[in-house]
Amino acid sequence: MTSNARSLPSLSPNVSSSSPGAPDAAAGSGVSAPVPGVAASAASHADLGALTPKIEVTALDFYYDAAHVLHDIHMRIPERLVTAFIGPSGCGKSTFLRTLNRMNDIIPGARVAGTVEIDGIDIYGREIDVVDLRRRIGMVFQKSNPFPKSVYDNVAYGPRINGMVTSRGQLDEIVESSLHAAALWDEVKDRLQASALALSGGQQQRLCIARALAVKPEIVLMDEPASALDPIATQRIEELVHQLKRDYTIVIVTHNMQQAARISDFTAFFWLGRLVEFDRTERIFTAPGEQLTEDYVTGRFG
Ligand SMILES: Nc1ncnc2c1ncn2[C@@H]1O[C@H](COP(=O)(O)OP(=O)(O)OP(=O)(O)O)[C@@H](O)[C@H]1O
Ligand SMILES: [Mg+2]
Repeated sequence: MTSNARSLPSLSPNVSSSSPGAPDAAAGSGVSAPVPGVAASAASHADLGALTPKIEVTALDFYYDAAHVLHDIHMRIPERLVTAFIGPSGCGKSTFLRTLNRMNDIIPGARVAGTVEIDGIDIYGREIDVVDLRRRIGMVFQKSNPFPKSVYDNVAYGPRINGMVTSRGQLDEIVESSLHAAALWDEVKDRLQASALALSGGQQQRLCIARALAVKPEIVLMDEPASALDPIATQRIEELVHQLKRDYTIVIVTHNMQQAARISDFTAFFWLGRLVEFDRTERIFTAPGEQLTEDYVTGRFG
């Protein structure tokens, strides 16, 4: 984040700042800036350049019963990079994240319209096996949720139930490599049979990341994975995210704008259920195309 953002001109020629579609609630939000355009077309133009989109969201609307909480979202999320979702509480970040692996399906009254394509296949299509989808798209939550089992059994759980291994040796290998990938191996290698609940909060969160990685996902969704952790444990998670993008597409929700600026390549700013702006992180924090984004990232509201 920079303090000179306000003095920079808008560098975003393909983002309309006068398009219609801003929500009425802007008037009551305490935002004094002109109401920006938040139409879908304004938000969907992050230039991925030569990057390959892993996830492509088109015209996505989402409802909890009668409550319309996501409006016409368009977004292309690049492969093997980190994409951060930022925005004020209640703006729909978690809901949108959950639409990417159909975790909302289990919420009664939840309804989604539009498409979410992963590698060009609509995950809401009839032929989709949701269990396999969630194996391919892992999720890590704000509050770490290890099973009340041993460290080993937490990581081994997914490979076991997905029938991914035929021998104990294979399972041992997956457990070890997943714990390495989650930067936890050295801390737990001598107590694999100890209860996961005896680990520290930061270790438990990395264990949950190891558990997510053990089923060999392509995408890892993280919903504020470090918000309950102290600064040192947070830093370890941030370093880990940075390493993981070599192998995985990462999408991370964070309330912490410095964290988004540090760890992500692309940032999406949501507001009142709309995607206001999606662009390279550097641009979002130094020269956003929308006044509302600038007001948010410079701390004028939040
Ligand atoms: N299970 C649910 N049933 C009904 N409404 C819900 C449900 N979960 C979320 N909502 C509503 O949907 C809107 C978006 O919520 P969501 O949790 O996606 O926001 P968020 O941006 O993740 O917020 P936070 O930063 O506080 O986590 C809010 O108005 C919220 O009250
Ligand atoms: Mg949330």
